[in-house]
Amino acid sequence: MELVKVDNLESGKVLAKPIYGADQSILLKKGTELTPKYINHLKRLKIRTIYIKEVDNDGFKELSEDEIEVLPKNIKQKATSTVKEALKKIDVPEQSYTNDDSDNYIEADKILNIVDDIVTEIINRDDLFVKFKDVMSIEDELFFHLTNVTVLSLIMGKSLGYDEERMKLLAIGAFLHDIGKIKIAPEILNKHGRLTDEEFEIVKQHAIYGYEILKDMPNIPDISARIAYEHHERCDGSGYPKGITQRYIHEFSRIVAIADVFDAMTNDRVYRTRIQVNEVIEYLYTTVSQNQLDAELIKTFLDFLAPYPIGSTVKLSIGCEAVVIDVKKDNKLRPIVKVSRFKGLDEDLTIDLSKRLNISIEQVLD
Ligand SMILES: [Fe+2]
Repeated sequence: MELVKVDNLESGKVLAKPIYGADQSILLKKGTELTPKYINHLKRLKIRTIYIKEVDNDGFKELSEDEIEVLPKNIKQKATSTVKEALKKIDVPEQSYTNDDSDNYIEADKILNIVDDIVTEIINRDDLFVKFKDVMSIEDELFFHLTNVTVLSLIMGKSLGYDEERMKLLAIGAFLHDIGKIKIAPEILNKHGRLTDEEFEIVKQHAIYGYEILKDMPNIPDISARIAYEHHERCDGSGYPKGITQRYIHEFSRIVAIADVFDAMTNDRVYRTRIQVNEVIEYLYTTVSQNQLDAELIKTFLDFLAPYPIGSTVKLSIGCEAVVIDVKKDNKLRPIVKVSRFKGLDEDLTIDLSKRLNISIEQVLD
């Protein structure tokens, strides 16, 4: 299968993976032949890239879904539906979480189970760095955001050599870090355009709400409440709610802060247009120089990122565009690329840039 930009999509191509809506319902089934009407629909939904079936296989092995996705689809779906259920249960203003009515608790066991699945998946994968394209292309708001931030935090935890126990504590906290948002009015959370100062003050409260929801919750480790409280604190003291500095912010909170910033910037958000991964990486470096996010942790994180993820389009120094089809771990800066119809050739051209040192990548186009 091949990852293509919806903008460049021709009708007649066949979907290699289903397209999901915000509520996890299938909008278009795998195997659907794309008509101009469907393509327009995808554009309206602001879906930028999709997987299509490759018609002429050029001898390169097709990637299976598992090879492309960081988390298998069933785990992702289970995670999003668990969070949805959990949020429904606690979406009651002035709810007391310390009473004995078990129906009103977040179903901690379900969350712990799904977090276990995610942790096991990340611990057992040793090839994470080339799989970021998928994490970054997931289109949705809070539900996917929670799963993404969990995965990104775990990747940092893994690169720091955390044992399974720490990974689990980190994962539960990452998964629940924004839970306080359920107490913020949706009109403010989903507002188009800039928030007023008053509205921003209200949004900031989600850190405190999250702490209050989680601190007394049975079966949820104490550190989760602390992560919810601290994930918008910044190392230089410019964050909220307390404005504390690095040495007072728990390492887990510093990790979740980076994952949160990264995820928010790489996904479409109602208040922001999508930006390129290389811009995010530049931004992360800026935060290092401003001492807002933990510099050491960011370096570890960036080490895991592939500068040219599989599926990205790049401009080569020989004057043509190419798509990255494979990235070698020991040479992330020189991937294998495929050039389509170059200078009148009727066949696609595959170039291993680690062997063709005279050709370089000039620009990432997508
Ligand atoms: Fe947050």
